[in-house]
Amino acid sequence: MVEYIALYGAKIPVIGFGTWDIRGKEGEKAVLNALSLGYRHIDTAEFYDNEEQVGSAIRKSGVPRGDIFLTTKVWYTHLRREDVRKSCEESLRKLQTDYVDLYLIHWPTESVPLEETIGAMEKLREEGKIRFLGVSNFDVPLLEKASQLASSPILTDQVECHPYLTQRDLLSYCQAKNIILTAYSPLARGRLLGDPVLMRIGKKYGKSPNQVALRWLIQRGMVVAIPKAQSVQHQRENLEIFDFALTPEEMEEIDRLDRGEKVASRL
Ligand SMILES: NC(=O)c1ccc[n+]([C@@H]2O[C@H](COP(=O)([O-])OP(=O)(O)OC[C@H]3O[C@@H](n4cnc5c(N)ncnc54)[C@H](OP(=O)(O)O)[C@@H]3O)[C@@H](O)[C@H]2O)c1
Repeated sequence: MVEYIALYGAKIPVIGFGTWDIRGKEGEKAVLNALSLGYRHIDTAEFYDNEEQVGSAIRKSGVPRGDIFLTTKVWYTHLRREDVRKSCEESLRKLQTDYVDLYLIHWPTESVPLEETIGAMEKLREEGKIRFLGVSNFDVPLLEKASQLASSPILTDQVECHPYLTQRDLLSYCQAKNIILTAYSPLARGRLLGDPVLMRIGKKYGKSPNQVALRWLIQRGMVVAIPKAQSVQHQRENLEIFDFALTPEEMEEIDRLDRGEKVASRL
């Protein structure tokens, strides 16, 4: 089954289910199916406009809430103290839950002091509405600042990360500071499928280039990945990465595919 990282008393499954662009009845069905396949880590955001579907899929699944690691995010236009509270409470209402496991600042902004946003999140944590604080799209200096401002650990920095954008320096920092790097767009939105290196390595193990990329991500240490898949076949494939291991040489070969290529926009 899905492996997890144990940190600060939490168990974070290393493969989560990304839900960008999963909406409506079909979206609910996709999340429900992911839960039935064994996904226990779900990534959503107020901006995705699907928290209601995610919440209702969780309820219908019958999986106990405590078995699911649930993340949502506050949008960058809602980072004032009172807006953070309003957004969080609205997310909880839509998700039909009393708490989220992880609450992320979706994107940094210069228009609100970071201490104000972190302070608001800390208060929500004290009230039990958030188990852990995190950030997204933060570079090393901003992540360091967030860690200094928070009195509880910053559990993760969620950033775009895949073989064409390895985030080597940020990951080294995270590993040194016990912060999880959550890799979004881990499949580079389909761009890895024809990659000759990933194809050759995959052939050896009977795995697809996407599976090799996910395996490489989670084998790096302190990395979790949140691939999005509407298709059941893709959902299943993305979980089938725990029955093989890449060699140190293969890991390095994939490290060398880095070309600083970003595929995601502001999502
Ligand atoms: N924090 C942020 O700013 C931010 C930004 C971007 C994304 N995210 C999060 O990260 C999640 C994942 O990123 P993403 O959606 O940008 O991209 P992604 O996971 O890299 O790629 C998703 C695409 O790959 C396809 N796919 C999935 N598994 C596959 C497989 N095994 N074989 C072939 N194709 C496969 C999906 O198709 P189907 O859907 O048709 O199955 C979909 O078109 C998002 O859903 C969101 O939760 C966060």
